Amino acid sequence: MPSSNLKLWTQVDHYLADLLAPADDALTAAIEANHKAKLPAIDVPPLLGKFFALLIQISGTKRILEIGTLGGYSTTWMARAIPADGKVVTLELDPKHAEVARANLTRAGVIGRVDLRLGPAIESLKALHKSHAEPFDFIFIDADKKSLPEYLDWSLKLAHKGTIIIADNVVRDGKVIDAKSSDENIQGARGFLELAASHPRLSATAIQTVDRKGHDGFAFAVVTS
Ligand code: SAH
Ligand code: DHB
Ligand code: MG
Repeated sequence: MPSSNLKLWTQVDHYLADLLAPADDALTAAIEANHKAKLPAIDVPPLLGKFFALLIQISGTKRILEIGTLGGYSTTWMARAIPADGKVVTLELDPKHAEVARANLTRAGVIGRVDLRLGPAIESLKALHKSHAEPFDFIFIDADKKSLPEYLDWSLKLAHKGTIIIADNVVRDGKVIDAKSSDENIQGARGFLELAASHPRLSATAIQTVDRKGHDGFAFAVVTS
């Protein structure tokens, strides 16, 4: 990627985010705690967190499923956007990430609205399904990318008509167009998009993004039945 573009995208992202999605003490402290604990800096950018918060508000979402917690940065944006009796169930494989997230979510004052489940996401999704968990209104898929199609299948089992499903990182510097890619993350993104495009219960689109993380994008689907 031309680095001059990344620099401009980063500057514009900071300009817009400082105006429209400014960090408060808890969000700033979370990013600092993640850095200190050496978590990868792959949290959603602030403007995307704010976009989720707006979607959650306009859809009247109360129950959120997140696949891939990391340090709970996206979780915080989402948990703040639901009513006090709402819930974010967030799934994380790495115990260290979960520990950092728990501290960040506690500091942000939203831990009471968050149910953080440790383990491979597929196992947690199976357990949610088996326990007849109440369906989710909003689902954010942001864990390993190779499993994206599988996560979409499970999301559908845990959804209702009108549920919003978002998958992060489906563009990946444009690599998504390489049908022959040997990268399992790219094949995961392509599988997700193909499934979303053809599934009888889904209507979907995808939005490219440029920001401080470079060129990427997210898929956005609504469950239609
Ligand atoms: N949503 C976060 C970023 C998530 S990064 C935010 O925007 O703030 C992706 C996370 O998914 C990492 O913490 C990683 O440990 C986790 N992950 C990877 N594979 C997983 C799996 N199989 N099950 C659950 N979590 C997984
Ligand atoms: C990666 C994962 C993410 O969720 C993200 O937003 C950016 C990068 C990664 O695994 O490289
Ligand atoms: Mg992501």
